Amino acid sequence: MHTTVTGGTRTGVEGLRREIVGIDTLVPLLDGTERPYVFLDNAASTPALRAVMRAIEEFLPWYSGVHRGTGFKSVLATGVFDAAHDAVGRFVGADLARNTVVFAKNTTECVNRLSNRFCFRKGDVVITTMMEHHSNDLPWRKNARVIHIGITADGHPDLAAMKAAIAREKGNLRLVAVSGASNITGLCSPVHDIAAWAHAAGAKIFVDAAQLAPHRAIDMLPDDDPRHIDFLALSAHKMYAPFGTGALIGAKEFFNAGDPDLVGGGVVDIVTLDRAVWNRPPHKEEAGSPNVIGGVALAAAVRVLGAVGMDAVAAHEQELLAYGYARLKKIRKIILYGPTDHLEEKVGVMAFNIEGMHHSLVAAILGTEGGIGVRDGCFCAHPYVKELLHVGAEDDRVFTAEVLAGNKSNMPGMVRASLGCYNTREDIDALAAMLERVVGGAYRGTYEQDPATGAFHARGYDVDFSRYCSLAGQPVPGRIHSEAS
Ligand SMILES: Cc1ncc(COP(=O)(O)O)c(C=O)c1O
Repeated sequence: MHTTVTGGTRTGVEGLRREIVGIDTLVPLLDGTERPYVFLDNAASTPALRAVMRAIEEFLPWYSGVHRGTGFKSVLATGVFDAAHDAVGRFVGADLARNTVVFAKNTTECVNRLSNRFCFRKGDVVITTMMEHHSNDLPWRKNARVIHIGITADGHPDLAAMKAAIAREKGNLRLVAVSGASNITGLCSPVHDIAAWAHAAGAKIFVDAAQLAPHRAIDMLPDDDPRHIDFLALSAHKMYAPFGTGALIGAKEFFNAGDPDLVGGGVVDIVTLDRAVWNRPPHKEEAGSPNVIGGVALAAAVRVLGAVGMDAVAAHEQELLAYGYARLKKIRKIILYGPTDHLEEKVGVMAFNIEGMHHSLVAAILGTEGGIGVRDGCFCAHPYVKELLHVGAEDDRVFTAEVLAGNKSNMPGMVRASLGCYNTREDIDALAAMLERVVGGAYRGTYEQDPATGAFHARGYDVDFSRYCSLAGQPVPGRIHSEAS
């Protein structure tokens, strides 16, 4: 049994639930009762670990700006912040003698930064897949010629097509950018095989680990291994540390070359009126005063996850996922997307629809009448979702025209329930029980759709949020400017 000490509490994976901030928070239901929130939207963002909160509390009295201060607190804070970088690097198996860990805001910023740092030349190619989140697609489109590898009938990237495209584009191909795990189907990519194909073609590989890092052990492997991952990005807010940090890991040699993406304070060794000499990475890539608290938080989270053991986390989530699919498959009218067996190749994401019902209506009922937090829509992966839903070109044209005209009522989409390391069978049971009610028409609300957002709202469910959190609905002091001024 893997155990970890989190501020005096010894816990294995089964103890992580107790370690979640807000796990017992009551939320209001349409019938006037309250229930503890069932959090099944972890793929979007996870709640925080208590150990993360404790680390921040312990650190705050010592908080100070880092790197340039000479006072005791600044020197101490610098050591803690630098060590946070190393903790994240070790968590993903990076060789820190040759690689650096750059902190940014989130995965999206990391990918944009990396794309800008590649300094693509005309004709340079990036290969990615139809499975990607927009954050691992649009930043490449901005700077390079992007080839999207299609998906197979069950939602996997077409690996044979990818291998062939990598070989065909040899010479122009600079990078293969793939997600470690999909935010829609949870499908994991064989990143080390793809790395070997990319390297054989003289290209690099980037792994978007936003959905992989919270759920699976990652090993970037030694830099001279053909299966080595060159670049990897992750988001702390998906790893129980929602304090505004993402990490980009890659070779020091790469970041040593060229100019940083953002320039300003902190990135230089020396500046004259006509010259700037860049600092070494990661400082070179972290312009301005960094988010020290965010870094400390992420390091605290990876220390807990590392001590519990990512294999134990993965095993727990696999068991839950199998249970979840077993429950959902028994509910009539449920349509499940992506493979529902061979679960070892998936992280805990279940995307579904109920036949004949709008995805946003289902999500609204789950939230309003079940206290269950899920998400619906196209999840920032529009091409992939439309492909899985078999949206034809003509339908796509119609939806797009409607959206452009301000009407999102008919946008295609799915409902997504996504698991974290602290979820339990009881959470799945709550979801399944509510879905059975929905399918049986046994929900009580009358729901109205807002065409501007596509979201449904139950008539009469007008909650005073400030009753639950004093910050909600607080007046903002200051002068209100009239539109005319
Ligand atoms: C697979 C994947 N990549 C990238 C991102 C972007 O992450 P962030 O919003 O933290 O930048 C997400 C977010 O959901 C994601 O699921």
